[in-house]
Amino acid sequence: MTRDEIVSWLICDDPSPLYQRADAVRKEFCGDAIHKRAIIEFSNCCERDCHYCGIRRGNFGLTRYRMEDSQIFAAAQAAAALGYRTLVLQSGEDRYDATDRICFLIRNIKKMTNCAITLCVGERTGEEYRAMREAGADRYLLKFETSDRDLFRALRPGSSYDERINCLRRLRELDYQVGSGCMVGLPGQTPETLADDILLMKEFDFDMIGIGPFIPHPDTPLQNSSGGSLEMTLRMIALARIVTRNAHLPATTAIGSIHPQGRQMALRCGANVIMPNFTPQEFRAHYQIYPNKICINDRPADCAVCVDGMIRSLGRTVATDPGHSLKRGGRGIAQTACKSGEGSYNKRKAG
Ligand code: SAM
Ligand code: SF4
Ligand code: FES
Repeated sequence: MTRDEIVSWLICDDPSPLYQRADAVRKEFCGDAIHKRAIIEFSNCCERDCHYCGIRRGNFGLTRYRMEDSQIFAAAQAAAALGYRTLVLQSGEDRYDATDRICFLIRNIKKMTNCAITLCVGERTGEEYRAMREAGADRYLLKFETSDRDLFRALRPGSSYDERINCLRRLRELDYQVGSGCMVGLPGQTPETLADDILLMKEFDFDMIGIGPFIPHPDTPLQNSSGGSLEMTLRMIALARIVTRNAHLPATTAIGSIHPQGRQMALRCGANVIMPNFTPQEFRAHYQIYPNKICINDRPADCAVCVDGMIRSLGRTVATDPGHSLKRGGRGIAQTACKSGEGSYNKRKAG
């Protein structure tokens, strides 16, 4: 798809043909199985001040927490006991959570469970990424947020777009399965800049791509912004599916937070992953990167039951493998992901 074609899908009156095509591409290249990733938000401490984020350093009204090692291990084991094969460890950027500690967590979780580990702990040095990879981390999620450099600079003080992209390159070189993505509806974003986001996803050929609406948080500088719409976010997910074919695309918590059926709709428009919250209930209210986040009053077991029901209600199946990247041909360990024949890699190889 050209930039102009992408823009025309973003502004057209009737996106339903786009959604149907994305669902067909998802079915052909990823199959019907939905991968579940248990997310553990292990700290809300952050040294950055991103204008869009509710846990930014400048939000002094927030109760800060760092989960103990034992609490993180218990959450990981609870997810593994429920059959989860991927754990996502997410936090703010916090020097207290030094690489040594994160490596210690990874090594122990790997001993305790048979789960793949995705890290989502922000911008770090190449050496830190290397140490975490050597400790056993399989994947890394670092959204580029927006491909509009000026907007990126304005929204993320002290961070540069080039450095973010360099981090993604370093992660790729270290043979992580690399996830990235963007927010939809940031102030100043246009259909053209969103089209550039899609083209960047295509160019980088990410293994995973998270696309969610920007939701304004009342205690941030963007409190008066309008935020992203359900429909624009669905169009972006569908376009990402069509251009990337077999990237893993989550139905994000954010899209579920702006519409009660948001995740279900995303799963019908190209998404093939869901990330239920396994953060212990006592911490959830403090990890509100945006307001009205779903599941704040639920426990991990509630979310586990809920997503299984959601998957069944869509007539889809629960994946039982770790859900490694479907984009092989040299990246990491994911050949197993294609053994079921659901992945695209074998099909592409076969011609
Ligand atoms: N600190 C790490 C980082 O920034 O990459 C990881 C944690 S951060 C909370 C995870 C993601 O939350 C960001 O990549 C961003 O896309 C998303 N996020 C932050 N504030 C948001 C908001 N107000 N609405 C929607 N998504 C938001
Ligand atoms: Fe910190 Fe990430 Fe939020 Fe930025 S988006 S303030 S780096 S947690
Ligand atoms: Fe948490 Fe539905 S996913 S209650």
